[in-house]
Amino acid sequence: MWGRYCRKKVLGTMILIVDLLLMIIDVTYSILCAVVRTFLHPRLKSIDGELCLITGAGGVLGRLFVLEFAKEGAHLVLWDCDTAANERTAQLARELGVEVRTYTVDLSKRQSIYDAAERVRAEVGDVSILVNNAGVVAGRRLLECPDELLERTLLVNCHALFWMTKAFLPQMKARNHGHIVTIASALGLFTTACDYCASKFGAVGFHESLAHELRAENHDGIKTTLVCPYIVDTGMFSGCEIRKEIRNLIPPLEPLYTVQQSMKAILGEQEMICIPRIMYIVFIARDFCEDGEECFLEAADGDRVGLAGDPHRQTQRLEQVVVKVRLAGILGESKTFI
Ligand SMILES: NC(=O)c1ccc[n+]([C@@H]2O[C@H](COP(=O)([O-])OP(=O)(O)OC[C@H]3O[C@@H](n4cnc5c(N)ncnc54)[C@H](O)[C@@H]3O)[C@@H](O)[C@H]2O)c1
Repeated sequence: MWGRYCRKKVLGTMILIVDLLLMIIDVTYSILCAVVRTFLHPRLKSIDGELCLITGAGGVLGRLFVLEFAKEGAHLVLWDCDTAANERTAQLARELGVEVRTYTVDLSKRQSIYDAAERVRAEVGDVSILVNNAGVVAGRRLLECPDELLERTLLVNCHALFWMTKAFLPQMKARNHGHIVTIASALGLFTTACDYCASKFGAVGFHESLAHELRAENHDGIKTTLVCPYIVDTGMFSGCEIRKEIRNLIPPLEPLYTVQQSMKAILGEQEMICIPRIMYIVFIARDFCEDGEECFLEAADGDRVGLAGDPHRQTQRLEQVVVKVRLAGILGESKTFI
């Protein structure tokens, strides 16, 4: 009895050591790849002639994305619920010599997304780059926020990602070619307190599971990019007070800088970008934060899953961090995915 117990213990420890060794080899390899990539800048792909759909095209970041994609020669389909702002963006893009079609769509309504997608397919063709950029914020405390506003934030910032992807992914899969960009937010990484953060947390999760699914199905021609900017000076958070010490340390981002950095990540087929880089710390730290994870498990399962202290759990946690680091493109590329 005692002998069997000891054998089990030794075997468990050996598996743990092998797990750790494999992970160290993996990390070392990834670091070497990253060093090489630092000196050899990633080649940016050409999107000349691709059909790119951008939601929220009438907004500040949306308009800048449209103009950057137009400069790269992509033909554009612009969606927004604000017809006038959308048309203004289209006019600016047409001046750059690309074909542009506009659609007035309310992204908070699933059927309106599916109907507009049908029209795009019939009138313009198959979309090969999808930029899910539209977003809203209620910005009130939970108990002070009307239900309709909370619901709208979740519908536009999170649910719409599912309907948009379901509408356009089948044609991408048929050609094994495409790119789905999710404009989330750094606020979706480190707090889940209000409507906006919760919806962007959902957007981050959506991107991660979509990327996972595409890899599992070997659809390696369909790329995904998650964009997580810190607060950008667009007016979206104009009423929001940032603590003075933090504002001095990380000032709000310039819209053009944010979009240009995002474009580099998209054209370089990077899976994820945090802007500024300091936000990667938050992204990676999420997995070391026991309380955060346990809270999530509690919310997801209605039950606390007490795995802390389990050595296998610790390696699992480390492995998750390695995957996140790779996703962030800090340690280079790898096909491995948990
Ligand atoms: N501004 C920031 O600080 C910041 C930071 C990180 C991430 N982001 C994200 O970047 C994206 C763009 O933000 P922005 O600052 O340019 O905002 P913005 O308000 O200037 O633009 C948002 C656009 O989305 C459109 N939109 C809103 N609801 C819609 C709906 N139901 N149907 C169709 N279109 C709708 C609006 O009409 C607007 O044109 C958003 O997803 C936002 O969450 C913004």
